[in-house]
Amino acid sequence: MKILIMHTVPYRKMEYHRALDHGAHDVTYVGTAARIADLPAGLRCERLVIPGVAKRHVEINAIVSAADGYEMVMALSEFDLHEAGEVREHLGIPGPRYDELLKFKDKILMKRLVAAAGLRSPRNIDLRTVEKGAPVASVPWEGRTILKPTLGASSIGVHVFGSPREALAFVVRPENDEYYADGEIEEFVEGPILHVDGVMDGGAPRLIVASRYVNTPLEYAWGSKPLGSAQFRMSDQYRAFFLDCLRAVGIVDGAFHLEVIEGPEELVFLEVANRAGGADVIPATEASTGVHIPTEEIDVLIRAQARRLGRPLPGGPVREVTKTEGPWFGWLVVPGHHFPEASCRVTTPDWLPGSGAVVKLRVAQPHDRLKKSVTHQYWEVPAAAILRGGDSAEVAEVVRRLSEEIRVVPHATEVLS
Ligand SMILES: Nc1ncnc2c1ncn2[C@@H]1O[C@H](COP(=O)(O)OP(=O)(O)OP(=O)(O)O)[C@@H](O)[C@H]1O
Ligand SMILES: [Mg+2]
Repeated sequence: MKILIMHTVPYRKMEYHRALDHGAHDVTYVGTAARIADLPAGLRCERLVIPGVAKRHVEINAIVSAADGYEMVMALSEFDLHEAGEVREHLGIPGPRYDELLKFKDKILMKRLVAAAGLRSPRNIDLRTVEKGAPVASVPWEGRTILKPTLGASSIGVHVFGSPREALAFVVRPENDEYYADGEIEEFVEGPILHVDGVMDGGAPRLIVASRYVNTPLEYAWGSKPLGSAQFRMSDQYRAFFLDCLRAVGIVDGAFHLEVIEGPEELVFLEVANRAGGADVIPATEASTGVHIPTEEIDVLIRAQARRLGRPLPGGPVREVTKTEGPWFGWLVVPGHHFPEASCRVTTPDWLPGSGAVVKLRVAQPHDRLKKSVTHQYWEVPAAAILRGGDSAEVAEVVRRLSEEIRVVPHATEVLS
């Protein structure tokens, strides 16, 4: 098949060669110069560079055409998954279009679908439907309130207020009026946050693994705490809720990353994406199940496209992998984007090497420069670990302890040189 891959997630995470026979398929990667530079040198493929300043699909559509003969557009990143629909449209090839894909990005659209299926999601108000500066007649909740971009990621632009009134008072300030173009307020739901990762194949799960965050993505974005996660054995009831959410939003093929709050009375849908989870979800899942999410996802997507093109590929029955047995795995990433200083020095606790819990540990060296925007990539943060334990509670505890005891001291590079 002639495949155009929108190459946005670093190659070292996706490892496309594990799923795709680059000798059998004609693969073209399109991405920014930095992304194209991370392709393995000897890989048989075409390479197309875009500037990366305008919208992805606009830049890509300017350099590809139907005459190129592409048969599939593959996009595996939250940042351009929906834009791939515009590229398919431009090339006239089958596959999901922009309008069908937006629900995997737009947090209001997905909550509407989940609520319509009778599943609990936070009550919310779409600020895009509110006239700038106008009072909001009735807000159906009281107390803590979240303000966030509807199309956001990495908890950027997310704020917490004591009440809807305070949140709205913040939005009406002229410097915050971007939330009227891309924003929502919603009730703050108390409780631990779960993330559920896996791959769907024709509406059935191939893989499903549940984990509980240690601290929250929001605290990580603020720089106040590391973000960790620990896998756990999900009950049938949890599994049913997760699958109901995926079906409600319409995640049929490909990887998913679902977030759910264990609310005071019930599970509450937070958000879902039709792509692999970030941070170290991919390697921690592989360590625990043997399944590399992108490899499984690419296989599903290629088969789905072959079906659309009327040339089904041979494949066995779908086998579901559900994590039920130990060992259990978790991960931790320590933020550094919030430091004004250029670099940092990391100290890990003395008990760590002898704990038997470390699968992988990477700490930044004093000369490494810290990235200044929110990142969860292990090679861009002060420290990242993959940890294991005999049971769920044990791995959760080691992730929590390391999160509390790892020390990151920022320093200006000049001090060292
Ligand atoms: N309704 C809510 N109740 C409680 N906490 C919330 C709520 N909405 C968002 N948060 C907090 O803000 C974080 C970011 O929100 P959300 O997941 O909706 O957006 P995001 O930018 O896509 O996040 P990320 O990419 O960090 O997962 C959540 O992980 C959680 O910590
Ligand atoms: Mg989230």
